[in-house]
Amino acid sequence: MSKLVYIINGPNLNKLGVREPEKYGNKTLEDLEILCKKKIIEHNLKLDFFQSNSEKNIIEKIHEAQKKGDAILINAAAFTHTSIAIMDALSIFEGPIIEIHITNVHAREEFRHKSFISNLAYGIIAGFGFKSYELAIDAIAEKLNK
Ligand code: DQA
Repeated sequence: MSKLVYIINGPNLNKLGVREPEKYGNKTLEDLEILCKKKIIEHNLKLDFFQSNSEKNIIEKIHEAQKKGDAILINAAAFTHTSIAIMDALSIFEGPIIEIHITNVHAREEFRHKSFISNLAYGIIAGFGFKSYELAIDAIAEKLNK
């Protein structure tokens, strides 16, 4: 049976396309979802693609993934740098986690260098634009299909 991958996106990522396009590009969250679906199908995996601006909803989605999912790919956006609650939720998850960022957070402001997710992640992919998600899907497919 195909394994289920959760892709969880945090605050303001619903504004992709209009939000600081010089950093995040001109494409929308919908475009990103289509790209991810294509990659997921190539690897014979299943996808649950989710975005929320609310910490509560993200935590509840992680709890759902803990029951149903095989892996979590997460771009927690600004919550990456602030949320102990999201870190605690991810700590419950037993499968592999990949932290994703569209931009290279380490080449940006210092407050973006701190992540509450990295210590739980199997890997981190940052700085490749939407391709960060495709690379993460390739990596998780290899890990899950081992
Ligand atoms: C981001 C980087 C974060 O620092 C920022 O708050 C975001 C997006 C990225 O994908 O590059 O909202 O996670």
